[in-house]
Amino acid sequence: MADSRRTVIGNAARRFRRWLVGDSWPHALARLAVLGVAAGIAALLFVSSGLVPIAASQPHWPITRVLLHYTMLRSVQTQALAVKRPPPEERALDVDAMVLKGAGHYASGCLACHGAPGTPRAEVVRHMEPAPPYLPPKIDQWTDRQLFWIVRHGIKYTAMPSWPSELRDDEVWAMVAFLRRLPALDPAGFRRLAYGDGAAVAAPAGLPPGGAALEFRLADCARCHGRDGNGRGTGAFPALAGQSERYLRESLRAYARGDRHSGVMEPVVAGLAVEELRAIARYYAGLPAGGAAELRVRTGSAARGEQLARRGDASARIPSCVECHGPGDGWRNPMYPRLAGQHPGYLALQLQLFKQGRRGGTGYAHIMRTVAKSLEPQDIRDIAAWYGSLPAFSGGAQRTSDVATDSGSSNPPEVP
Ligand code: HEC
Ligand code: HEC
Ligand code: HEC
Repeated sequence: MADSRRTVIGNAARRFRRWLVGDSWPHALARLAVLGVAAGIAALLFVSSGLVPIAASQPHWPITRVLLHYTMLRSVQTQALAVKRPPPEERALDVDAMVLKGAGHYASGCLACHGAPGTPRAEVVRHMEPAPPYLPPKIDQWTDRQLFWIVRHGIKYTAMPSWPSELRDDEVWAMVAFLRRLPALDPAGFRRLAYGDGAAVAAPAGLPPGGAALEFRLADCARCHGRDGNGRGTGAFPALAGQSERYLRESLRAYARGDRHSGVMEPVVAGLAVEELRAIARYYAGLPAGGAAELRVRTGSAARGEQLARRGDASARIPSCVECHGPGDGWRNPMYPRLAGQHPGYLALQLQLFKQGRRGGTGYAHIMRTVAKSLEPQDIRDIAAWYGSLPAFSGGAQRTSDVATDSGSSNPPEVP
C-alpha cells in the first residue's frame, strides 16, 4: 500500500520535472515564466478577493513579525554603513546644545508615539501594528549611525516618519545626541531638557490679546526659545526677544512655506494662519532683548572677529557685517536681523548653513549665501564669538530712532 503511494508520487514528480525542464533551456525558461505568471494571477485574485488580513486589531502571525523585524534590522544595519559623521570642525554646537535641541523636538515630534520617562505613550498608538516601542530601553541596541539612519529616513509600513527636512542632517545628529542620553534620564531630567526650567508648559508672561489659541502656541515656543524669548542661553535656540518684527514674521513665513529649512521649526509653524504669525512676531519683537549675552566672556578670537565684522576684508571679498547687522548708527533695512547678543553657536551654525546652501530663508537670503561663501571656518568662529559677546539691543539691526516705528517696542536699545 505504502509502496504504491510512493510510486504514484514519484511518477507525478517525474512528469512535472519533464514538463518543466523538457529537453532544452528555452523550453525550461518558457515554462518557468508560465509558472510565474500563474503565481502572479493567483496572488492578484487573492488580494482582489479582499481576504488578505490587514486588521491592526489582529497581531501579526509570529512568522510575519519575525520576518518583518529581520528585514528592518538588516536593512538598517546595511544602509547605515554609508552614513558619515560630520568631522568635529564642522560641528558648530557643543554636545549639550545638541541634546537640548534634540529633546525639544522629541517632545513635539516623537513623544506621543514613543513615550519618555514620566510620560507614557499615547493610549491610541498602542493599538497600532506594529506599535511604536517605548524607546529608552531600545536605544542601546543601535549604534549612532544606525539611529541616525532610522531618524533620518523613517521606516516604511510602520508609520515611523522620516525627518521633516531633507537638508538638515545636523538636526538629525542633534536628535541622536539626545537619544543617547534618553535611557539614563529620570522624569524630572527629561522635563528639564524638553520643557526648560519652568518644567510645566506655562504660557509666558505679558501675552498680547489673541485668545487661548495664541497663548497655547506661545507656551510651546517658550519651551525652546525661553519664557523671556532669549533662547535659554544655549546655541541650540536663537533669541527672538527684541528682534525686528518684520524679520521674525518673514522668517516664520519662510519656515511655513518650506523656504527656510528646519525639521524642528517647519512642523511648529506649518498650518498657522498669517494673522497668527503676525501676532507672534509682534509679541516677540516687543519683548526686551537681553539676558545671557552679558554673562559671556569675550575670548581672544572675538577681537579678530570685531575687526572683520566692522571693516570686512576686500581681498577676501568679505563685506562689513556691521553695515547691515549693526551695531551702530544709520538706518538699516528691518529685514537685516540683529546679531548682537545672539549665541555664538547659533550664529556659527547659520553661517555654515548659508555657506553650504542649506539654510534657505526669506527673499533676502541670497545676500547671505554670497557673503558666507567667502568666509573661512576661522572667520565664522571669530565673528560669531564677537557678536555673541555683545549686549543685545531691541529693534532688529536698526538704531534708536527707527525702533519705535517698526516694532512698536518701547525698550531703549543698548547700542554699544
Ligand atoms: C506615528 C508614530 C511615530 C512617530 C511620530 C515616531 N515614531 Fe519612531 N517608530 C514608530 C514605529 C511604529 C516604530 C517601530 C518600527 C518597527 O517595529 O519596525 C518606530 C521605531 C523607531 C525606532 C527603532 C526602535 C526599535 O528599536 O525598534 C527609533 C530609534 C525611533 N522610532 C525613533 C523615533 C524618533 C526619534 C522620533 C521623532 C523624531 C520618532 N521615532 C517618531 C512610530 C513613530
Ligand atoms: C522644539 C523646539 C522649538 C520650538 C517648540 C520652537 N522653536 Fe523656533 N527655533 C528652534 C530652532 C532649533 C531654531 C533654529 C532653526 C534653524 O536652524 O533654522 C528656531 C528658529 C526660530 C526662528 C528664526 C530666528 C532667527 O533668528 O532667524 C524664529 C522666528 C522662531 N524659531 C520662532 C518660533 C516660534 C514663534 C515658535 C512657537 C510658535 C517656535 N519658534 C517654537 C526651536 C524651536
Ligand atoms: C547687504 C546686507 C548684509 C551684509 C553685508 C551681511 N548680511 Fe548677514 N544677513 C543679511 C540678511 C538680509 C539676513 C537675513 C536672511 C534671511 O534669513 O532671509 C542675514 C542673516 C544673517 C545671519 C542669520 C541670523 C539669524 O538670526 O538666523 C547671520 C549669522 C549673518 N547674517 C551674519 C553675517 C555676517 C557674519 C556678515 C559679514 C561677514 C553679514 N552677515 C553680512 C544681510 C546682510
